[in-house]
This record gives sequence, structure tokens and C-alpha cells, in this order.
Amino acid sequence: MADRVYFFDTTLRDGEQAPGYSMNLEEKIKIAKQLEALGVDIIEAGFAISSPGDKESVTAIAGAIKNCTVASLARALKKDIDAAYDAVKHAVSPRIHLFLATSDLHLQYKLKMSREEALERIKENVRYASSLCSNVEFSLEDATRTDLDYMCRVVELAIKEGATTVNLPDTVGYSTPDEIALMVSYVRNHVPNVDKAILSMHCHNDLGLAVSNSMAGVVAGARQIECTLCGIGERAGNAAMEELAMLMHTRPDLYPYQNNIVTTEITRSARLLSSTTGVKINPSKAIVGQNAFAHESGIHQHGVMANSKTYEIMTPESVGLTQTNLVLGKHSGQHAFTKKLVELGYDLPKEDVDRLFAEFKKLTDRKKTISDRDIIALVESTEDVK
Ligand code: KIV
Ligand code: ZN
Repeated sequence: MADRVYFFDTTLRDGEQAPGYSMNLEEKIKIAKQLEALGVDIIEAGFAISSPGDKESVTAIAGAIKNCTVASLARALKKDIDAAYDAVKHAVSPRIHLFLATSDLHLQYKLKMSREEALERIKENVRYASSLCSNVEFSLEDATRTDLDYMCRVVELAIKEGATTVNLPDTVGYSTPDEIALMVSYVRNHVPNVDKAILSMHCHNDLGLAVSNSMAGVVAGARQIECTLCGIGERAGNAAMEELAMLMHTRPDLYPYQNNIVTTEITRSARLLSSTTGVKINPSKAIVGQNAFAHESGIHQHGVMANSKTYEIMTPESVGLTQTNLVLGKHSGQHAFTKKLVELGYDLPKEDVDRLFAEFKKLTDRKKTISDRDIIALVESTEDVK
């Protein structure tokens, strides 16, 4: 089995569904371009049928992105698939991503259909999507609470009808790594045509296990992981893209998988998301929080000065934090200040930079030297920054 793992980023779909993260067209294009620079393989740009605005942004992203596959989500319904295909069809590499729930709980109470009726619906709609587009993903919503033998029938059928990727979501973040490993192994051992498609993980973080569960799936044979910047998404969010990428980067002994992620673009991507949505990054957030590479205690500072490996398992440079000689203080001008903002990954409109520069000048009256952390705190504490 190839050891290449594909990153499917759903910041602009599952991520945007989280309260406080909605973005306009221009903002979505900016994020999509940054995701392209970050090296994700697939950008899920939205859910075309869900609103005219969503369709417009999926279409615009499909036109603007050259180096990633662009996907739109669709329910297993002809009208959804038509809208999705219409939005992505001009992309360099389009994908239709359709889904249907397969757990008895969802079939009985949400979809009000039997297992056999669901199979019929999957057959018809995967076949239809494949007649439009050669790149089709089918997701078994609530896979982790689906009967394993029924799951195998669904996966086999979806692949037979043309699905090139089959996704097994932990929709409600209920599973554990052991269970995920068992599920993926079971599918790989019981579905005869399984090697004709890529298996994918899509893990939610309700119990804080989204990243561990995704990697358990990869170790068991999945080769696509669905994730979002900073782990944003429904409820407690999705698997955090930066954690998955740095886990593989830092522990190739455990996870010897190749991917296309340019890790030095991680900080810039997370900060762009934060400055675009106005939602601050938790200071303790792994990889991208402002404290992730900070050392406060004397013992730690002493250790890091002697050898950074004492308390740093990855270098700040590897995630795009620059170590510059540009010291900011009361004599610094707006040019140096703007340069520092860019180095720290912020891409802000001029009026925000002007306002922040005025705040920065006030700060220099109180503090002799201004650290990167001071600048980050300044940006993140300015409520109006959008
Ligand atoms: O969580 C989920 O099951 C989803 C699917 C639509 C892929 O987001
Ligand atoms: Zn989801």
C-alpha cells in the first residue's frame, strides 16, 4: 500500500459550519489560496446546494485554485449532486463529495428508511455522480456507529458504482483509536474491491480524540485524512490539520507517511484564519497557539539556551515562526511594524494596521522592547480586527 497520505481540508465547509466562523466570498478565496500554499491536496470549498452564496464561493474557488482538487459537498440527491458538479466543474481537478448516513439510529430517526432503501439510494446517486465526474467521494455519515457488516456492503457498493474515495466519518466524535483501527481493518479485510478506492478518515473532536483517531485510521490503512485549520468545525470541531501534519513531521518513526504539506506555512495559515474570522487562537493550542513555543520558566529557558531540544520537540522555524533580528521598540516605524505583522502570519487591511500601529506606539511608552508575543497579543486583543 502506498504510504502517501492525502490531506482533505474542510475548513471552508465543516469548519465554516461552526458558530462564529462564517466568511464572505473574498475571505473564502483568501483562505483557499493560503490552503493551496500550505499544500493540502483537496479543498472542500463548501456545500453548493445549501445557499446561493455557498454555490458562488465554491464556483469562485474552483476557478481560482490550480494546484489542489476542489470539492463540493452534496447529499445523496440528484439536485444536490447537480449543484455540486455545476460549482466545481471548471476546476482543474473537480470532486463531488456525497454522503448518506448509514447507522441504524440515523436511518430510523433521521432518514426514516431501511438499510435496503439506503443501499438503493447510494447505488443510484454514486452512479449518477460518477457519470458526471471521475473523482467522487462517498461518505457514510455516522460510520463509527454503523453495523460493520452493513458498512462493508455499503463500501463495496459505493466503489462498484464509481466512488474513488470512501470516507468513514466519526461524525459525533464517539469512537476511540482502538475502535477506529478495528473498523478500518475490518473494511479492508472484508470488502473485496477495497483497493480500488482510497479510504478516508473524518473525525470529530467531541472527546478530544479527533487527531488520535485519524492517525489510528491511517495506521490501519486509510490514506486520506479530513481536517480543518485549528480544528474548527461542528461542536468541538474536526481533526486539526496542523497537529496531523506536525505529528507526521515530528514522529516519522511512528508515522512514516509522505504528504504534501509545507509545514512552514502552518502559522501563517492559522493566523490568517484568526484575523479573517476575528476568532482568537487559544494561547495553549498545540502548534499554533502563542505559547506553543514560549518558554517562561527559568529552568526551561536555561535548557533551551543550552540545547533547544531539551524542551522543544520541533523547531519554531518548522511551522513558519521566523526568528528575526528585527527588534521593535519606541523608535520603530510603521514599515518595520508592518513587516513584523507579515512575518507573524497576519495579512490585515491597511486600516487595521494603522490602528494597531497606534496601539503599538502607546505600548512602546510602557515597554522598552516589544516581543513577538506582545505583537500577537496586540492583534488578538483588538476586537475590531476582522
Ligand atoms: O461529520 C460528518 O459525517 C460529515 C460528513 C458530511 C462527511 O461532515
Ligand atoms: Zn463532519
